[in-house]
Amino acid sequence: MRVLVTGGAGFIGSHLADRLLAAGHHVRAFDALDPQVHPSGAPDYLDPAVELVVGDIRDESAVGRALDDIDAVVHLAAVVGVGQSMYEIRRYVDVNSTGCAVLLEQLVERRARIKRLVVASSMSIYGEGQYANSVTGERGLAPNLRPENQLAERRWELETEAGERLVSEPTGEDKPLRPTSVYAVTKRDHEELCLSVGAAYAIPTLALRLFNVYGPRQALSNPYTGVGAIFASRLLNGHAPVAFEDGHQTRDFVHVTDVARAFQLATESTVTGHALNVCTGRPASVIDVANGLASGLGLAIECDVVGRYRAGDIRHCIGDPTRTAEVLGFRAEVEVAHGLGELAQWLSGQEAVDRVDQAMDELRRRGLER
Ligand SMILES: NC(=O)c1ccc[n+]([C@@H]2O[C@H](COP(=O)([O-])OP(=O)(O)OC[C@H]3O[C@@H](n4cnc5c(N)ncnc54)[C@H](O)[C@@H]3O)[C@@H](O)[C@H]2O)c1
Repeated sequence: MRVLVTGGAGFIGSHLADRLLAAGHHVRAFDALDPQVHPSGAPDYLDPAVELVVGDIRDESAVGRALDDIDAVVHLAAVVGVGQSMYEIRRYVDVNSTGCAVLLEQLVERRARIKRLVVASSMSIYGEGQYANSVTGERGLAPNLRPENQLAERRWELETEAGERLVSEPTGEDKPLRPTSVYAVTKRDHEELCLSVGAAYAIPTLALRLFNVYGPRQALSNPYTGVGAIFASRLLNGHAPVAFEDGHQTRDFVHVTDVARAFQLATESTVTGHALNVCTGRPASVIDVANGLASGLGLAIECDVVGRYRAGDIRHCIGDPTRTAEVLGFRAEVEVAHGLGELAQWLSGQEAVDRVDQAMDELRRRGLER
């Protein structure tokens, strides 16, 4: 197949390109080489066999040309900083939502040839994860964000109004979507725009809801995205990683090679109309990740647990991998301890500019961190 990967010069896109090439597909990467992600231009890690087309996803004629003679499209191009999206609102809506609309209009015109559309969605569209009530045993709960007065008292875990403690459980795809940032709203747009247009025009389409992706090639000098990369840029400069709240909030860290495999399976599959979690189903706390990276790098740097919080932050979100296993036959394989060790090895050869303090100042000035 001839596959167009938008955002194909990025972290996930380049790993997917490697897999697709190895499977014998032709890969065209369409990418604007956003300077925030690629400060030195086209990345060295991109396989020379990838046909790189530099262009903006909002430019309809460039997108149209890139789609000519293409059989399958994987849409990854996006701006990806959650905190930054809360003040560069228009840019996020423009690149992500409008960019997806431009792609879809061009794709619809060429639907006779296009056999497949796969889009990157995100766990961020869930908002808080799924919970059970520790007192009543009730499961499948979809609570709202923790109230401001609770956070102001530094009580971090979720509670009911009656003060009953809620405990995290794996989040299934049917949990109501409650995006809590502009970035997350635009990722829901990505998913819903692609699935609805795909269904209307009979273009087989899947959306993959990626959990927290980590691994080699993360953009280390981009302080706006990816807790693993943000921690790494601190550690590589001899600074302590900063953990908000008490550092025991949990996420589902899924390795980029697993994610690339999920995208390949989705691209080659014929199933359509689903939004599927790409996750491990296992929790790791923010402190676990910081310590795992520090020890992998041989550094005795402890995480700086700051006891502050950011507007819109969730406490726990772990994915339920069951439906993806049934529909796509996908199960994540890389254990987080192994994956962090491998990431640390790659990091040892990297340089990173630590702009994390600057990014945090931007949030603080706007009252988004308290
Ligand atoms: N990394 C994660 O943890 C994660 C989690 C959930 C979802 N996702 C989604 O996966 C996709 C890929 O993310 P990533 O982590 O590889 O990020 P990335 O920043 O490494 O890759 C995104 C690519 O898109 C390109 N891009 C940005 N603006 C563009 C524009 N206007 N036109 C064309 N290209 C443009 C960038 O240059 C970059 O190469 C994104 O859609 C993101 O929302 C990522």
